[in-house]
Amino acid sequence: MKKIFIVLCASAILYACGGGGDKTEKKDAATTTAKEATSSTNQYEDQALAIIGKSDCMTCHKINETSTGPAWKDVAKKYEHTDANVKMLAGKILKGGSGNWGTIPMTGHPALTEEEATTLANYVLALK
Ligand code: HEC
Repeated sequence: MKKIFIVLCASAILYACGGGGDKTEKKDAATTTAKEATSSTNQYEDQALAIIGKSDCMTCHKINETSTGPAWKDVAKKYEHTDANVKMLAGKILKGGSGNWGTIPMTGHPALTEEEATTLANYVLALK
């Protein structure tokens, strides 16, 4: 429902700008709307941030930039957001993984539950 509302707002804004006038302004409005839509439609965000807050993910990851580990946005680009990929990435968050992004391995996170790891995998894959 929230998503539909955002889409409706976005079309209203685009329509309003379409009546003529500056092209740059139109493009900026569209980009801003897209950004806001992305962050507010990641339905896993609240839960994921709570889990991330008690784990160590951010010592090796950044959302937009490569750090010790890959940028999470790059992970989201690499894998489609499917159930199979969520399961696969949740498994790597729990048990660790290596060889997909470089030579540095990711340590496992045995303190997380499978459910928490699944939420994190969903959150990362929804970062598009
Ligand atoms: C010690 C540093 C470190 C920590 C802590 C860490 N990661 Fe990673 N992460 C990495 C590295 C390095 C890779 C790349 C591994 C590879 O090449 O397969 C990676 C890869 C990933 C991937 C992509 C896996 C793949 O196969 O493509 C995901 C998703 C991910 N991390 C999520 C997390 C989450 C969620 C946490 C917190 C629970 C976390 N990471 C904590 C270093 C870390």
